[in-house]
Formats: sequence, structure tokens, C-alpha cells
Amino acid sequence: MTKEIAVSGSRPTGFIHLGNYLGAIRNYVKMQDNFSCYFFIADYHSLTTHYEAQNLPQLTREVLATYLACGLDPQKCVIYIQSEIPQIPELYLLFNMLAYKGELEKVPTFKDKVRSQEQSGRSISAGLLTYPVLMAVDIIVHRATKVPVGKDQEAHLEIARNLANRFNYQFQTTLFPEPYGYNDGSDLFKVPSLDGSGKMSKSATNPNSAIYLMDDDTTIRKKVMKAKTDAGPTESNQTKPEEIQNLFDLMQLVSSSEIVQHYETQYNNCNIRYGDLKKQLAEDMVQLVAPIRNNIHDLMKNEEYLKKVVRDGAEQARQSADATLQAAKKAIGIHYF
Ligand code: TRP
Repeated sequence: MTKEIAVSGSRPTGFIHLGNYLGAIRNYVKMQDNFSCYFFIADYHSLTTHYEAQNLPQLTREVLATYLACGLDPQKCVIYIQSEIPQIPELYLLFNMLAYKGELEKVPTFKDKVRSQEQSGRSISAGLLTYPVLMAVDIIVHRATKVPVGKDQEAHLEIARNLANRFNYQFQTTLFPEPYGYNDGSDLFKVPSLDGSGKMSKSATNPNSAIYLMDDDTTIRKKVMKAKTDAGPTESNQTKPEEIQNLFDLMQLVSSSEIVQHYETQYNNCNIRYGDLKKQLAEDMVQLVAPIRNNIHDLMKNEEYLKKVVRDGAEQARQSADATLQAAKKAIGIHYF
């Protein structure tokens, strides 16, 4: 049986944190055995809001090294950089003719970005409006059906399904299947931030709220020890306030079940010492992050290897993308002699 096709990408806009790892990349690693996977770095997408591209080379290499350090295996999946696949912008041009201005203006992430761009006095580019078209093309260019992304991407996936269907209908073809979000259950949890509320995010204003895969052991310990706590429970089996629940949720993600149980019992008996809990949480995070970080550092030094990975990946991705592009052009009627 042929495997289902999966695609996902990350914009190279900053360091990758524990939330990205536990919520997304760890999923990719599991998927590479059961799906035909394409994982890429969405460098064109980062130009929609940050046209100043001087940091792109460093950021792109970092995402690439992080993918590999976390366990993506170029023998099992196709790893590439979006801008190295010229079929993507070509198909994007064709799909821009099918996408409606009105449907793109309604996308919640577009509205949010318009608000923040305008606040900082920046104009809204046509590229920002058509961000979902480019993302749809990233997916359907490989005729993928599975897209491991967070819930925040649902509106983009809906556009991708609409565009796939619209193309099929308009040109009387079945070329494009509908892509859907995919999670194997691990996306049902959120990875909480360390500053008491919300989820871990790279845009948070508090730099201590996220643990980055590049953080050294001391930084990890410092950030965890600074996490907000309360005065402690006063009654047994009391419900936990958000900042305490978040620490337990994080512990659930990185510590053994015995350890979690130990602190649960202490909490319920009102004899918990948050300092001890945080020390344990920090150590378990260090255990998880340190080997990945060391891998990232080693890989960053091995430029030849990184180059080879994306050279081979781009070749495979171009092959798959070209087959789709040629079929799409043919369906439209762009084949003259
Ligand atoms: N929009 C996605 C994000 O912000 C990144 C992305 C671009 C993507 N193209 C994609 C994700 C294709 C999955 C598939 O996270």
C-alpha cells in the first residue's frame, strides 16, 4: 500500500522552543515511519512580515539543524528549503488567480497581522494577504492529505481545501486531494508558558516564559526557578491555580509518572515545596534539552552535511512538485504544442 503524504513547514523567524518540539517536531519524528513526509523551511513565508532578510541564512540553518537534531532522518523523509523549489512560486501564481480577495481578508491570522503591522506603522503587502495561498500550495504541490500543525492553522487549511476543490471543479479534474490537520493525540495538550498563563510562544514579551532548545543548562534552571507560584495550598485536594497547574502540565510532559505522582500527592496533602518541584522540573528539562542542543551545535559546525541534506531533499521535492505542476498546467490548458 502506498503511504499517505504529509507536509509541514516552519517559518525561520526565531529559535525553536520546547513548545515547538513537544507540540510539533516530536510528531514529525514519529510520522516519518508511517507517512511519505515532506518537511520544509518556509523561508518565503517569513518575508511576508519581515522583508529584511539579513538574518535568514542563520535562522534557516538553525531550523534545519534543529529538525535533524530532533531526529528527522533524511533517509526517511524529504527535508528542504521552500525557496529551492521553483515549482512552488509557479503554482502559487496559478492559485492566486483562483483565490478571492474577500476570503483572504477574512482569515483571522491576516486580521491579527494587519493590526500589529499597522500599529508599528508598516504597510500590508499583497504577499501577506496571499500567505494562505502560498501555504496551500506548499501542501498541495505534493498532493498531501495530512498536515501536522497546531489548531491555530485551521483557517489556513480550510483555504487550502477550498482552493484544491475549486481547482478540481473549475478544471474538471481530481488532481488535488483535500488536506486536513493531523495529530496523533499529542496536540491535544498545550505546552504552557512559564510565566503563569497561556502557552509557550516565541512572541511572548517575557523572555523567561519559553525554554529554547538552544538554552544552556544554567539558563534552563534559571528560567524554571523564576516561574510564578502562589503561597501554596491551604486545604487538601484543592484545585490548582493556573500558574501551578501549568507547572504540573509541564512536568507531565518531561518527567516520569512517579515524579509527577510524588508532587501531586504532596500538593494534595498541602506539604509541597515549590522550590523542590521546580528544581526537579528544571533537571528533567535539562535531560531532555541538553542532548538536542549539543546535536544542534555539532550540526551547525558541519555545514557540508547541512548543505548535502537540503541539496538531496530539494531534488526529491522538485520531482514531486514538478509532476503536480505539469499536471495542473495541463488541466488549465497551458500546454500549447
Ligand atoms: N503557516 C505555518 C505556521 O505559521 C507555516 C507553514 C507554511 C506551513 N507553509 C506550511 C505549515 C505548509 C504546514 C504546511 O506555522
